[in-house]
Amino acid sequence: MRNCNPCLRLALPRRKTVTMHHAAYVFDAYGTLFDVHAAVRRHADQIGPDGQLLSEIWRAKQLEYSWVRTLMGAYADFWQLTEQALDFALRKVPSADKGLRAKLLDAYWRLDCYPEVPAVLKALKASGAKLAILSNGSPEMLEAAVKSAALDQVLDDIYSVEAVKRFKADPSVYDMVTTGWRLYPGAVSFQSSNRWDIAGATKFGFRTVWINRSDQPEEYRDFPPALILPSLEGLLAAG
Ligand code: LAC
Repeated sequence: MRNCNPCLRLALPRRKTVTMHHAAYVFDAYGTLFDVHAAVRRHADQIGPDGQLLSEIWRAKQLEYSWVRTLMGAYADFWQLTEQALDFALRKVPSADKGLRAKLLDAYWRLDCYPEVPAVLKALKASGAKLAILSNGSPEMLEAAVKSAALDQVLDDIYSVEAVKRFKADPSVYDMVTTGWRLYPGAVSFQSSNRWDIAGATKFGFRTVWINRSDQPEEYRDFPPALILPSLEGLLAAG
């Protein structure tokens, strides 16, 4: 029951601040560990002035397809969605050279990770926590990205939606971790830069940390994160 009586609250001794680390830290992949805009940035010179627009449409469509296909019950793997989304974006942005399609797709297999990622993951691992990725990505895409960023030694598991054939924020996706690791949802700290993913994970019962990399306004207020950080940097200190 909630303690709503202010007198009672005042009478209670102040709690000591203890940094409690979680047993398990689970990370979204795209946008959280790996920079989805790195593919377009890598070919920025050839793409011209509308590169950012192209990248944003590419990402937005990729996600839209994941939600619609889950609602329809018509799963196709994330690589197919990534290709279809790029094709749409290339048609929508006529200034972008369609000849770059293969190069852009190829870059998606070797996306840059954000600069703080290796050190933060290593420190969490050294603290004794289990670490995993939980992502819409296909197993092949995720393994390639993890290898290319040299994160393979530090991760205990890579959970891909391929196993349940539904995309985030379907509860069956988050459930893969608690079933796989035999943990209560509250023992899992889940980090994502995607606010809608945080909403889904909060509803599922994970402790959630919104990595608000691009200073987005708050939304999904009925499913708030436990913590908001501008990058993964402060995660270890925050517990
Ligand atoms: C993922 C998407 C949400 O990695 O970026 O699951």
